[in-house]
Amino acid sequence: MNALLTTLPEWQALRAHWHLMRGSTLKQFFVDEPQRGERLAVEGAGLYLDYSKNLVTDETLRLLFGLARARGVEQRRDAMFRGDRINETEKRAVLHVALRAPRNAYIEVDGRNVVPDVHEVLDRMAAFSDRVRSGEWKGHSGKPIRNVISIGIGGSDLGPVMAYEALRDYSRRDMTFRFVSNVDPADFVEATRDLDAEETLFIICSKTFTTLETLTNAHAARDWCLQKLGGDAKAIAKHFVAVSTNRKEVEKFGIDTENMFGFWDWVGGRYSMDSAIGLSTMIAIGPDAFRDMLAGFHAMDLHFKDTTAERNLPMLMGLLSVWYNDFFGAQTVAVLPYAQYLKRFPAYLQQLTMESNGKHVTLAGKRVDYDTGPIYWGEPGTNGQHSFYQLIHQGTRLIPCDFIGFCQSLNPLGDQHDLLMANVFAQSEALAFGKTLEQVRAEGTPAWLAPHRVCEGNRPSNTILCERLTPYSLGTLVALYEHSVFVQGAIWNIDSFDQWGVELGKQLAAKVIPQLRDTNAKLDHDSSTNALIRRYRKWASQRA
Ligand code: F6P
Repeated sequence: MNALLTTLPEWQALRAHWHLMRGSTLKQFFVDEPQRGERLAVEGAGLYLDYSKNLVTDETLRLLFGLARARGVEQRRDAMFRGDRINETEKRAVLHVALRAPRNAYIEVDGRNVVPDVHEVLDRMAAFSDRVRSGEWKGHSGKPIRNVISIGIGGSDLGPVMAYEALRDYSRRDMTFRFVSNVDPADFVEATRDLDAEETLFIICSKTFTTLETLTNAHAARDWCLQKLGGDAKAIAKHFVAVSTNRKEVEKFGIDTENMFGFWDWVGGRYSMDSAIGLSTMIAIGPDAFRDMLAGFHAMDLHFKDTTAERNLPMLMGLLSVWYNDFFGAQTVAVLPYAQYLKRFPAYLQQLTMESNGKHVTLAGKRVDYDTGPIYWGEPGTNGQHSFYQLIHQGTRLIPCDFIGFCQSLNPLGDQHDLLMANVFAQSEALAFGKTLEQVRAEGTPAWLAPHRVCEGNRPSNTILCERLTPYSLGTLVALYEHSVFVQGAIWNIDSFDQWGVELGKQLAAKVIPQLRDTNAKLDHDSSTNALIRRYRKWASQRA
């Protein structure tokens, strides 16, 4: 494991292989093997992955699996499931898989089985959710709760928002769910402006309970509540609950720890949507549906843990990502869900993938000499087709795409779902096989225009199909990406579970804040930063 990745024979074999197959085309692959589309497809935990439209041969796959073996990916995976402290820089276990383990599972951290702790919190969340959903939990003035506002940021926000949007069809339609994350006051003000405080519950989500944005918004929420509810501090107990690992800070903020739902340092923020951080999800869809979602996560965990590499979805997706990132020099991966309900899925994945694998040193602290985490981005289809797909089809960059589609609609409306899914299949086909100059000319296109209409094809993609968007299938999908990220990080030998890179900006902001408040404070930054602060002071002081 300490051998440098690029010096490994398996890596060099891949490099040599890449040189040899660089001119290969997807078109030719399919001509050579008409059944390729059926053979290069795998199924796991209810997801069907077609990876045939990738720039790979059997030899490529053999070499990629060889690389995974040389990097000990499976051993590393087993270490994660065992509860070893694989987050080495923070000296923590990485056990989001324990959050969805069944009651009878046994997963040990420091000699303690953590599974009963997980279920104790889940049971408390369920009891609380039921009380809120049934109207038994009353606000300070005796009214039932109709509005739930989850306040958090990063992993304490993106998962809950994404899950709420994804599972809206399963949610209580007579309740309002909103999410406040940005320290920009517009976020809080817009989220609360039309709500009745007497019917509003705030869930303050923060693993550390020290995050500037979240604490600032939580204080704004408390002030808003007190002002609307006649200033009685006792109201807080009825309108605020906390989700955190930090009991002391929760107490300090003034939330009764009876109303706190805990989790543990072995749950990374970006891996926490299935912990108590998902309390808003549970209130929205109910405890049973939440447990279905956990079952989906768990099904993918078992698939990842127990399935041979060659048929293992996260393993395949992770290795394909390494293939494009490190050998083809692809900078990004586009995630294209053909489901409006998944509109926040790409944003959620951005934190999961980029906070995890955006690292420049190995576990041993050595500068890597290969590219690590690609940039993940995307939008739901078909909307993206009418904006950025042009570049994917005809631009000069290679952008591997993940298409995600569901075979049954939650909103049957004429044949609209067929129209939606026809576009999934058409897009991946167009990207792979394109349109030649001859084909364009044969359509009668004038010679001068023909080159503009050529699509070179050979643009790779995965297609992930699922029967239906349900809490269960959402769980499988998220776990698929979690584990794909894991595979990539294991190949690159980086710590996919820390996030030191976000610290510097936080420190510098803490220094700038008082300099904005006190306009006489001496500025000792670089000349650009000093000038920007001066300009801000000048224009801010002119506000009416
Ligand atoms: O700043 C990054 C980060 O630490 C994320 O990793 C985390 O998900 C987010 O901030 C929120 O942190 P917390 O849950 O502690 O408020």
